[in-house]
Amino acid sequence: MDSSDTFDRKTLSQTSLTPLTAFRLRKPEAKDGQAIQSLVKSTGVLDANAEYAYVLLGAHFAGTCVLAEDDNGLTGFVSAYRLPDNPDVLFVWQIAVGERARRKGLGLAMVRDLLSRPNLKDITMVHATIASSNAASIGLFRTLADFLQAPFETQPFFPADYFSKGHEAEPLITIGPFDNNL
Ligand SMILES: CC(C)(COP(=O)(O)OP(=O)(O)OC[C@H]1O[C@@H](n2cnc3c(N)ncnc32)[C@H](O)[C@@H]1OP(=O)(O)O)[C@@H](O)C(=O)NCCC(=O)NCCS
Repeated sequence: MDSSDTFDRKTLSQTSLTPLTAFRLRKPEAKDGQAIQSLVKSTGVLDANAEYAYVLLGAHFAGTCVLAEDDNGLTGFVSAYRLPDNPDVLFVWQIAVGERARRKGLGLAMVRDLLSRPNLKDITMVHATIASSNAASIGLFRTLADFLQAPFETQPFFPADYFSKGHEAEPLITIGPFDNNL
């Protein structure tokens, strides 16, 4: 079963968000790096990484990353990886959904798509850092915790002074432990 099959079956059967049929989910490839960086920049909220970093994600971390396309091109991306010292934890690094695709369930569907992959069945926790002003992202992860029926907790992690002036602190949010039945 490929990633897009999983997306159609789970998302459309478990929610009423029919516009999601417009999106196709797949693993990124190295050649997607440039388009991914453009999408991340277009959010105006995320720290865009170097193009090369997104090329590397497609080359080496495709198993824990997902992108979404519609007929107009790339419109969603999630980068994530297993914590090197605690591989049961999926750390979600960045989630970006293009303006035209927001509030249709795509952000949540991409994370669910990752968790439903055979190579991630043993994941029992999701971690991410989210600035406290980012209501959309906090809402997304709270919805994910509800969906997984898992505890959602926040704790201090990266203080603002780790970053250049103007950057907010990045508290750690943790979801889990959960049984990954997706
Ligand atoms: C955060 C982001 C990825 C959400 O993507 P999305 O596809 O619009 O989110 P979804 O439609 O899957 O929403 C899932 C849940 O998240 C919450 N949510 C999403 N957008 C929200 C918003 N603007 N305000 C409050 N809650 C929001 C809701 O609880 C929503 O469930 P509901 O629609 O049933 O109420 C998107 O807004 C985005 O790309 N923002 C800019 C980049 C960013 O901040 N990324 C996250 C930091 S890494």
